[in-house]
Amino acid sequence: MEKRISWQIEWVQAFAHFQKARRILEVGSGNFETLMFLAKKYPGKQFVGIDFAFSDASVSAIKNAPPNLAAIKHDIRDLRLLANDQFDFVFSAAVLEHIRELESHLSAIHATLKRDGKYSFLESPFWSSSLGHHYEHNSPECPIPHYGHLMMSREQLKKYLEEHAQRQPAEIEKILRGIYEREDLSRLTRTETRAIVESSPFIIEAWKERLDKNYSEDLMKAVVGNNIYNVDAQDLQISGVTCTLRKSASPGNKSNWTSKILRKFGIR
Ligand SMILES: C[S@@+](CC[C@H](N)C(=O)[O-])C[C@H]1O[C@@H](n2cnc3c(N)ncnc32)[C@H](O)[C@@H]1O
Repeated sequence: MEKRISWQIEWVQAFAHFQKARRILEVGSGNFETLMFLAKKYPGKQFVGIDFAFSDASVSAIKNAPPNLAAIKHDIRDLRLLANDQFDFVFSAAVLEHIRELESHLSAIHATLKRDGKYSFLESPFWSSSLGHHYEHNSPECPIPHYGHLMMSREQLKKYLEEHAQRQPAEIEKILRGIYEREDLSRLTRTETRAIVESSPFIIEAWKERLDKNYSEDLMKAVVGNNIYNVDAQDLQISGVTCTLRKSASPGNKSNWTSKILRKFGIR
């Protein structure tokens, strides 16, 4: 099992809300490895996983799935197939950076959670981080320099790759399409993501940022000097986030809570 998947399994199990949950949903389940492990270990819980792409590995995993795991092939940008108020806990790992429609996604997850249910997600890498272009970003052979996608236009990156990458023209075109035309990439910065989460119907219980290990002052200056997407300089230091959101106890609860704070400080 990949280290990344073992980490996810530990991450999910460490939540008290996971331990208490009876019905659990994972969105963007990939090869269903995390869910298979959890479903076998916790036969008393019900698990549902959704992904719009089933690899051969997913298909063979699903064939051997225990009865408390349901796998659904579906696009998570449209979650109308899920009934309201049915899950105690939802989680996702390395998925939200692929969802441009983050606002409606969060509303849909909010609707399908029970009252006080929680959504924990790991989002990484943000578009605004050193590897946010997502092109072979986990490979040592990655041809894109750190933060290169933020300071080079398509034409500039093409020129850079022709001069430095020693790749065939067809491959360079594939790389450029993979960065600038790939549809399943949100291209939301850390600041934009945080603003959408804050304006969602959820209460933010935890927002823990991960530092970008490739960040340096020199690279920051280079991006700021040619800041094509007008990325906030602070965002460059952050590669991703782990976050837990709670469904407010009743629909108007979040604004009631905000008004209480405002009243407390004599603002309203
Ligand atoms: C980077 S992978 C992560 C997979 C898994 N969570 C893991 O950590 O191994 C992103 C996953 O999200 C899925 N995905 C992306 N956009 C999706 C969408 N709109 N609907 C359903 N699945 C989606 C992809 O098919 C892929 O399996």
